Amino acid sequence: MKKIYEKQEGFRECIFYAIICANEHLGKDFKDMERKKIKAALLGLGTVGGGVYKLIQRRKDEMEQIIGTQLEIVKIMVHNLDKKREGIDSSLLTDNWQEIIEDEEIEIVIEVIGGIEPAKTMILEALRAGKHVVTANKDLIAQQGRELLNAAEESGADFLFEASVAGGIPIIRPLKQCLAANELTDVVGIVNGTTNYILTKMFEENVSFESALVKAKELGYAEADPTADIEGLDAGRKVAIMASIAFHTRVVFEDVHTEGITEITEKDVAYAKDLDCVIKLLGVAHDTEEGIEVGVYPMILKKEHPLASVRDSFNAVFVHGDAVDDAMFYGRGAGEFPTASAVVGDVIDVARDIQYGCTGRISCTCYKDTPIKKFKEVKNKFFLRMQVKNQPGVLACIAQIFGNHKVSIVRVVQKYVEESQAELVIVTDKVKEGYMKNALKELEDLDDIYEVSSVIRAYL
Ligand code: HSE
Repeated sequence: MKKIYEKQEGFRECIFYAIICANEHLGKDFKDMERKKIKAALLGLGTVGGGVYKLIQRRKDEMEQIIGTQLEIVKIMVHNLDKKREGIDSSLLTDNWQEIIEDEEIEIVIEVIGGIEPAKTMILEALRAGKHVVTANKDLIAQQGRELLNAAEESGADFLFEASVAGGIPIIRPLKQCLAANELTDVVGIVNGTTNYILTKMFEENVSFESALVKAKELGYAEADPTADIEGLDAGRKVAIMASIAFHTRVVFEDVHTEGITEITEKDVAYAKDLDCVIKLLGVAHDTEEGIEVGVYPMILKKEHPLASVRDSFNAVFVHGDAVDDAMFYGRGAGEFPTASAVVGDVIDVARDIQYGCTGRISCTCYKDTPIKKFKEVKNKFFLRMQVKNQPGVLACIAQIFGNHKVSIVRVVQKYVEESQAELVIVTDKVKEGYMKNALKELEDLDDIYEVSSVIRAYL
């Protein structure tokens, strides 16, 4: 390159040559620079924190090659200093946040405490003190991401949170960076391993929701209080984060309509099988002409859909963009090392940015303000199971009510009939949630309908 420019004459060429020389020189300087170790502090030493510490120890030498200098955890903040912790250098432990925030040599803070407070205050203080932050905290990002990203932008710090969605699966960076050339319109994911395990058990072993939940607890997938998982709240937080990044508009957890899987019965599973479908708890985000749709609910899904084959406690996220077409990301959504994999990947990125003097490069990408659709305006297909009086005219009456509320019927199945009662399954075309709600209300008030037993959305 240099030689070409040596032959050139004239002012313009001289300027080009000077720029190239400066770049070559700077690049060399950054790479060869004798740099002190990059020091990091870890906040929290639970399952994820332990994994992060062990993974950094395990990959120490390789990380030095990747980053260009050594990275070291110099402090670990824990709640209880007296607790026995195998494989951890106890001289690193502290329960005093001031020791970390006031230590100017600590450049990276890794937050894996979880929950809103004290994590939020610590992250904000760290960013304001000019430290870079890596976090796995989905609750915080889904609810207060804007404030944290603003603080990072103000201080020019890196603020990365790959592990906040789908554990070990790379999804934040793909949405934000790798797929940045696309107009993304759909992000649909199985982003909760506990519920995916339960639904897989129900499908493959024909067991009830309750007994699958017991098994999930025994295996350590479900917590003692499983509400956040089984009611779709955990998935709702992850969908809010993904939608914000994919559609460049801040979407918070409160914008996400969430429903869980507690009402799914063995009968629903049997009907889904008859229809060549599975039932999955899906986090759904679509960018439509009329605004953003975001929700989490169980959905009946054709067996051919790539998400249908995601079994057990695995997670997957299916994305559609105008250039890339369909893409799917699959892997472990939780666990010590899968989550640590995402956290430590972020730490390496931050350390490289520090080493190359380019921190704060990629900050908030929510530059749009697309409206979030009211849930009643969102359109879905439905699977409805109901117990009705077994007599002429009942089906006609149901069809009339649906017609009045703009609900179009696609399929009717009547498998079980007793003398006085029949079970009807109706699959509808896409209809606004608000219309379906009104139709169901009217149906439930009808004497001929004993019960609407299941209302499950369909992704057909
Ligand atoms: N409880 C979550 C799950 C993992 O079951 O996938 C942490 O978000």
